Amino acid sequence: MDKFVVRGGNPLLGTIKVSGAKNSALPCMAAAILTEDELVLENIPQVRDIETERKLLSAMGAEVDLGYGRAQHRTRIKCAILSDPVAKYEIVKTMRASSLVLGPLIARTGIARVAMPGGCAIGGRPIDLHIKGLEAMGATVTQDHGYLEARSPNNGSSRLKGAHIVFDKITVTGTEDLLMAAVLAEGETVFENCAREPEVTDLATLLTAMGAKIKGAGTSTIHVHGVAQLHGARHRINPDRIEAGTFLLAGAITGGDLSVEGCNPAHLGALLAKLESCGVKIEVGKDSIRVRSDGALKAANISTEEYPGFPTDMQAQFMALATQAEGTTTVTENIFENRFMHVQELNRMGANITVEGRTATVRGRSKLESAAVMCSDLRASASLVLAALVADGETILDRVYHLDRGYEHFEEKLRNVGAQIRRMGNVFTKK
Ligand code: UD1
Repeated sequence: MDKFVVRGGNPLLGTIKVSGAKNSALPCMAAAILTEDELVLENIPQVRDIETERKLLSAMGAEVDLGYGRAQHRTRIKCAILSDPVAKYEIVKTMRASSLVLGPLIARTGIARVAMPGGCAIGGRPIDLHIKGLEAMGATVTQDHGYLEARSPNNGSSRLKGAHIVFDKITVTGTEDLLMAAVLAEGETVFENCAREPEVTDLATLLTAMGAKIKGAGTSTIHVHGVAQLHGARHRINPDRIEAGTFLLAGAITGGDLSVEGCNPAHLGALLAKLESCGVKIEVGKDSIRVRSDGALKAANISTEEYPGFPTDMQAQFMALATQAEGTTTVTENIFENRFMHVQELNRMGANITVEGRTATVRGRSKLESAAVMCSDLRASASLVLAALVADGETILDRVYHLDRGYEHFEEKLRNVGAQIRRMGNVFTKK
């Protein structure tokens, strides 16, 4: 199992480039199921979750060429024949986003069999809202031996039917999954209380390029006019706002001067506002953000919310920053239960954090010291790297496979701007 060895103390200086958004790439790859034609997707990040999705689609009969190393990371996917519309547990178990194939599979083939998802261990992560939505569109969903089986009306032989669906709770992949089901349904579907994340908009842009009729993506209400068929398209994946945000925090926590390029600043509003409250200097360009800090950080409370609020996927990394801020920071996690697994590890490095229910209280500023720490999920891993960048001595982070799920060439990018970080073990490479 790979480990990172990080020696703290260097301010990060220079320019770092952002990759394509994993959370956009995953639904966009699943959208290939909706057509017999080829999809060309640019800017697909080279991370483990994408490799998992490649395996998932290939096992169903799709031709997938990830095209890493080629200009633009150009990926080609063709689902001419889906010989086996099943998402097997062996593949699904590491990635909850596998539930994203449920909607497109049933829309295309009338039948979908998908293992109940795994993924990050951050609370019970049900998919009841996906199921409820499909049922409202006329699907029959049954469960056996850890698998969900969904059939469109008439035992899988008729198309799904348009419906009025009000999400009980805002769900990102739920919105995406049902959107992909609705684009090939008969008639109109109206979704209310939708996720407004940029990743939903990115998917809707791709689906529209494939011939779908969608209005309102990026708002709470989305209208879909179902069509009988979709065609191939070419699409460029959005830059990864969470990766960009992680690097901005890395620049700020180390008292550096770092420009993050190739990002979309409009997607990072909530984080930038908090960084300013912490006393970090920010310059926003068209597709770049520069952070500068002299290391004197002030405490600023955060409370995670759905987009455009403060992202839950930045909570762990922000908490690492809070350990270096003067004063007390409260961090409230509203989206997921049990998303404080990084707290214990940060405390082992010398942080002073207590948790009560959904709120963590960080008392700063703490002098962090190196330790052997364990990554517990994707963003928690990034949080520990940030802490290690300012800790005294050499920190060893175990289980960085969690980080490899979602960050492309993470240590290389950080090393190029002055971080002392190296990997021990087998370097993750695409098979
Ligand atoms: C997506 C992101 C993830 C991010 C999260 C919240 C991807 C691949 N992953 O995850 O990085 O942390 O959004 O921004 O895009 N819920 C239900 N029933 C459901 C679905 C969700 O109760 O059927 C609950 C969840 O338990 C959670 C909340 O809704 O409490 C939000 O989850 P959701 O938006 O679905 O997260 P994901 O789409 O899995």
